[in-house]
Amino acid sequence: MSEDLAKPAREYATDEIVVEWRPSLCYHSQNCIAALPGVFDPERRPWIDVSAAGTDQIEAAVALCPSGALSTRRPNTETRVNTNDATEVRAIPNGPLILRGNLRVVGADGKELTRLQKVALCRCGQSRNKPFCDGSHKRVGFRDGPAS
Ligand code: SF4
Ligand code: FES
Repeated sequence: MSEDLAKPAREYATDEIVVEWRPSLCYHSQNCIAALPGVFDPERRPWIDVSAAGTDQIEAAVALCPSGALSTRRPNTETRVNTNDATEVRAIPNGPLILRGNLRVVGADGKELTRLQKVALCRCGQSRNKPFCDGSHKRVGFRDGPAS
């Protein structure tokens, strides 16, 4: 993967909030669209309109993004990461592993892919963007549990 995932591909901003977008990390859960369809509309260009809702509403919707594809920051406000929080690895039913914490993702070749606070990693084996989940688990009908 040549893209530097540590940097957002695009930013959408008002004076109060900046929404960062990393498309390579999105696995199309559509949580953002369900939460704020006026702000997140994949049929529109640009697909994110930060003027369509309040800052708190946008932060709440972006917090629902499981993959780390969306993140926010408030300009002129220092971001603090609570280092006392345990790193969490959570299996999503029939889907990826969601990791939260101070994360450093390293590829199979030993090169660092990104540093983030949230990321979705493939556990179905079918992602075309490994180690990240790209939503292929839905296409292949991945299921948890013992084989029947
Ligand atoms: S992974 Fe994040 S950015 Fe992608 S559709 Fe889901 S909530 Fe939106
Ligand atoms: S778990 Fe989503 S593509 Fe594999």
